[in-house]
Amino acid sequence: MPSESSNDQEQIARRLRESGQEHALRWLDELDDAGRQKLLRQLAGLDLPELLEFKNLIETPPTDISFEHVEPAPVARLPLRKAERDIEEYVTCLGEDALAADRVAVLTVAGGQGTRLRYDHPKGMYPITPIRGKSLFQFFAEQILAARRRHGCGLPWLIMTSPTNDAETRDFFARNDFFGLGQDSVHFFPQRVNPILDGNGKLLRAEKDELLVGPDGHGGMFAALATSGLLNVLREGGWDLASYFQVDNPMVTVADARFLGHHLRWHADISCKVVPKRDPQEGLGLAVLKSGKPTVIEYTDVPEEIAAARFPSGQLLFPFGSIAVHTISVPFAERVAQEGALPWHVARKRYEILDELGHKALSPPAGCYKFERFIFDALSFADECAFVEVRRAAEFGPVKNAEGEDSPDAARRLMQQQWLEWLREAGASFSTPKDFSSPVIEISPLYAADAAELKERAQPGWAPSFPLLLEP
Ligand code: UD1
Repeated sequence: MPSESSNDQEQIARRLRESGQEHALRWLDELDDAGRQKLLRQLAGLDLPELLEFKNLIETPPTDISFEHVEPAPVARLPLRKAERDIEEYVTCLGEDALAADRVAVLTVAGGQGTRLRYDHPKGMYPITPIRGKSLFQFFAEQILAARRRHGCGLPWLIMTSPTNDAETRDFFARNDFFGLGQDSVHFFPQRVNPILDGNGKLLRAEKDELLVGPDGHGGMFAALATSGLLNVLREGGWDLASYFQVDNPMVTVADARFLGHHLRWHADISCKVVPKRDPQEGLGLAVLKSGKPTVIEYTDVPEEIAAARFPSGQLLFPFGSIAVHTISVPFAERVAQEGALPWHVARKRYEILDELGHKALSPPAGCYKFERFIFDALSFADECAFVEVRRAAEFGPVKNAEGEDSPDAARRLMQQQWLEWLREAGASFSTPKDFSSPVIEISPLYAADAAELKERAQPGWAPSFPLLLEP
């Protein structure tokens, strides 16, 4: 990294003065050389016009979304009748063909801060499986290995990190020999960070030699894919479909042929898995049409009375929530990276900051402003988008909170209930365990990645006892 000369420093100071941010140079004289260079580099990298845009967003927050032209999105429902099941079979074949033709890459966003989980490492390192305590990353890696084996494809894995957790994530994979995936097929790319501002649009300090910054939201993925060169890697490798999921959902079906098939069938640019909401208040983005265009509206932007609105039959007016699992066509991702300035969303949070005297202090609650882009805003650039219903109990067990709803314990319970269901479908006879306070069952994706694979391995008269661990 080049060091900032005194000329550069003067230029930085002038630019900061002009944009009303000169306080960001405070304490510079107290720093040693390394600290000065670190802060000056960060300040030199600031996008000042964007900073002004952020300040304007604080001063004039966007008005509430109008729901006047919003209607429920059309959704490809789970098949109930024989004819529908036949179509699903055809659709699944389309997805399987795309996998076998090595057109699919896996894409995971893992750059978030995991504040609600209160876990001090990258979320993907969280030990999630009930018996072995395998990390989320390992569990996904085993699913990728299983899918490679089944479809005979390369299935590379692209993982978005953030500058805060990039080194620790890479180190975790290296220490674990990339979980058998092969180093060359796992690609990390860090997303950008944005400055976090106070209520007057001023820069804040995390340390005397460091601005307070935060990741730019998973919508930053498109730009990060382009700047890292990975969009070129995908294009040149012939991977034109990305199977996208968030690192926080261990129940996700990685590289799901049915979902890929729906995407292909509708010639979609981006597709979105949805489930019926558990209750009106559940924290899921709403799948809707806005002025006729498919959109996801974030739950925090939905007024309570709209979220709770029902038809006379009792059914929710907007029943479907996004579980943040997408299929994305790579040419579409290239288009969004080039042309798609996704809107900024503002989140108000509490952070540890340096106060006026340079002491660490907690900001007032909601006193700091964070600016993020959301991946689903890319839907507005799409010519075609498919919303596809999936079975919630089989595909959604997010790990968001340390306890209670959407916690690791809740996710482990769902995983185990699903594995018990597979056992039942495989013809095993057992009495269903009711108590999950100690581990009951774990099935490695390398032993069986779904109910059908387990059935193939089941012996007649199988009567397992618990705890049951099935691995290769
Ligand atoms: C998210 C979705 C919501 C969806 C729900 C399903 C958003 C804003 N909302 O809610 O519509 O219904 O999941 O579970 O995403 N991440 C990054 N970089 C960032 C920010 C987040 O990689 O800068 C990753 C995180 O690692 C995490 C995921 O994105 O895997 C979700 O982020 P989070 O902020 O927790 O979103 P939710 O409020 O849970």
